[in-house]
Amino acid sequence: MADEDDKRNSRVPAVSGAPPKLGRRDLLMGLSTVPALGLFGYAWNRQQQYRRGREAAAAATPAAAAGLQEINVALLGAGAQGQVLMEAMLRIPGLRFRAVCDIWTEYNLRRVVNTLKRFKQEPNGYADYREMLDKEKELDAVIVATPDFWHARHATDALKAGKHVYCEKEMSNTLEGARSMVLAQRETGKLLQIGHQRRSNPRYIHCYQKLLGEAKLLGRIVTVNGQWNRAVAPDLGAPDRYAIPEATLKQYGFKDMHQFRNWRWYKGLGGGPIVDLGSHQIDIYNWFLGAPPSGVMASGGLLYYDPKTHEWHDTVMVMYDYDTPVGPAKAYYQTQTTNGSQGYYESFMGDQGTLLISESELNYAGQLYRDPNAPAWDEWIQKGYVSAPKEQEAKEQTGSGAIADVRESVAPDQHTVPVSLRDPYHQPHLQNFFDTIRGKATLNCPAEIGYESAVSVLKVNEAIEAKSRLSFKPEDFKV
Ligand SMILES: NC(=O)c1ccc[n+]([C@@H]2O[C@H](COP(=O)([O-])OP(=O)(O)OC[C@H]3O[C@@H](n4cnc5c(N)ncnc54)[C@H](O)[C@@H]3O)[C@@H](O)[C@H]2O)c1
Repeated sequence: MADEDDKRNSRVPAVSGAPPKLGRRDLLMGLSTVPALGLFGYAWNRQQQYRRGREAAAAATPAAAAGLQEINVALLGAGAQGQVLMEAMLRIPGLRFRAVCDIWTEYNLRRVVNTLKRFKQEPNGYADYREMLDKEKELDAVIVATPDFWHARHATDALKAGKHVYCEKEMSNTLEGARSMVLAQRETGKLLQIGHQRRSNPRYIHCYQKLLGEAKLLGRIVTVNGQWNRAVAPDLGAPDRYAIPEATLKQYGFKDMHQFRNWRWYKGLGGGPIVDLGSHQIDIYNWFLGAPPSGVMASGGLLYYDPKTHEWHDTVMVMYDYDTPVGPAKAYYQTQTTNGSQGYYESFMGDQGTLLISESELNYAGQLYRDPNAPAWDEWIQKGYVSAPKEQEAKEQTGSGAIADVRESVAPDQHTVPVSLRDPYHQPHLQNFFDTIRGKATLNCPAEIGYESAVSVLKVNEAIEAKSRLSFKPEDFKV
């Protein structure tokens, strides 16, 4: 099960700026399938095919409609996620990449600048973001996709330089950092969108507005559970020839290349899987329940990975209390990194139905179950809010010989959410940011919402240390 977060586990970044090298298999294929061309002819032909493919892709970059205000953007942080965002932005009309900034100049910076050039963009490359902000006067917006511990500095400095900012989640690895971002946004009046991209996903918006809001299909939500299970993965590495000099690493807060590549696992840099992965889904708990949590208990530990290179917990189980506008609720969340089964999803259970949703539509189509005693959903099926039910078969006696107990409750009918996202996951959230710059929308995840989510998630690590239930006061969520 893979999503954008999982792409970081790949040793080869998602977008390749360099032409592909010919492998042994290619050479053998060349010899067997195109003997007339010969080996060098085959190689030349492959390079030409590749060039034509890239040109076709570049030509396919959407043209801006007449009168569309062009937005000058910079990408700050050109790693795995920076490249995912760049790919999504290349599909959005009316954007001009003016600059890319990354301290890994010989690898990520070069790769992304080269890729953008193939897409008829002409970005200047920088290692130092302050130099970029100084020199690139015409920039309208900065997209921040650096490690979490850099977000506060990068976002506040860009806001103070008069730029709108799209900053990846987690907003910051510290509450002080996140607060400073909210304050800088207010002070400058510039836009700050936090990268909780599910907030702009049409499937989630449909569930929130139509199914929970208008139709109230779940009734009163009393329990929630969700998870992000990720399979064991080796630490990220880097080719020796692209190692960053130690002095440069230190200047930017990394002790060595291992820490630079695996910053998520280190205290003071990231927050471990609960922050990295949990922040996406706990943000949805708050959104769908209509309130941030009132208390949290959590248990976590480093059960599997090497403590010399992994400082945060690889396994975390959390229980939140919520006082929602319609009554109390409890929400369970787990993240573990030793077994990927069942991937990631959020499940909301009300007194009339259940919604099981995930960003990964491939694995979870968005199932809805109506409790047998709940009012019929015919009106909502007719309106196209939910699909017609797939009836669960009564299993009195199955082929396996299992016998249903007469006291067992009847399995509820299964419906699905009839909305799909055909674009990359991040595209609608970026589009919402650019539409808001153009005055045609409002942000789906402004600084205050990102802050609520950061408070809810960062407290989990505190609760694990405290080994007891911690309370949230309403003012904890306000800046
Ligand atoms: N929304 C999502 O689904 C999603 C998915 C993955 C990652 N993310 C977030 O994106 C951010 C980046 O994650 P990633 O997986 O791309 O990490 P990464 O390590 O692959 O990339 C980080 C990049 O930032 C560069 N960098 C580090 N410090 C810098 C500095 N001071 N100035 C300029 N460049 C610097 C590094 O050289 C690297 O290229 C994180 O905040 C992460 O939580 C979000």
